[in-house]
Amino acid sequence: MIQSAKFIGSFPKTDDCPQSELPEFAFIGRSNVGKSSLINLLTNRKELAKVSKTPGKTQMLNFFLIDENWHLVDLPGYGYAKLSKTTRAVFDKMIRYYISKREQLVTVFLLIDSSISPQKIDLEFIDWLGQNRIQFAIVFTKSDKEKALQVQKNIKNFKAKMLENWEGLPPFFLTSSEKNRGGNEIMEYIKQTKNSSQ
Ligand code: GTP
Ligand code: MG
Repeated sequence: MIQSAKFIGSFPKTDDCPQSELPEFAFIGRSNVGKSSLINLLTNRKELAKVSKTPGKTQMLNFFLIDENWHLVDLPGYGYAKLSKTTRAVFDKMIRYYISKREQLVTVFLLIDSSISPQKIDLEFIDWLGQNRIQFAIVFTKSDKEKALQVQKNIKNFKAKMLENWEGLPPFFLTSSEKNRGGNEIMEYIKQTKNSSQ
């Protein structure tokens, strides 16, 4: 269980981010995948991630200090259809720069909507993570939204798609912010990974 969670700030560039040695865990996914809801589930706060919902701030690297000993980083969603192509390219660059250059970053949690079939944009992002040797885990969100059988099918298809390009699979988590499921497993994973990275 998280004891304390505090919003630190929103930063437009990786070089502006806190000069801290604390380990970081970043969350990313397509817009509307359920990122803010998941962060609120993990931190057990109803409105913590709302801070980043203010227009403009969603486009930044949002930092939260958790239990005074690690940073949760809420990254802008990718593939947001309402943005212009140019703006999207700018955010894409910012996200990729942060992920590939930030030394404090321990693991990226990539959120995937389990209520829909595998999406090309997500698979492409995974390929990029793999090519850049970024340590990541996959969090399937919205597990309550479709029938359990359909969710299992979507996940199975997603894994099969991944295995077309990769030999192994990363850690997977299944969550529902609506039903309060899967948060503890992610917290346990963060705790273990954090300890072994220090
Ligand atoms: P943006 O920041 O706007 O890109 O979205 P986001 O990825 O932060 O998603 P957010 O948490 O705002 O959720 C988007 C929508 O999905 C909202 O209407 C949520 O209520 C819904 N949602 C999020 N998590 C779940 C879930 O576990 N189950 C269901 N059924 N709906 C969810
Ligand atoms: Mg959000």
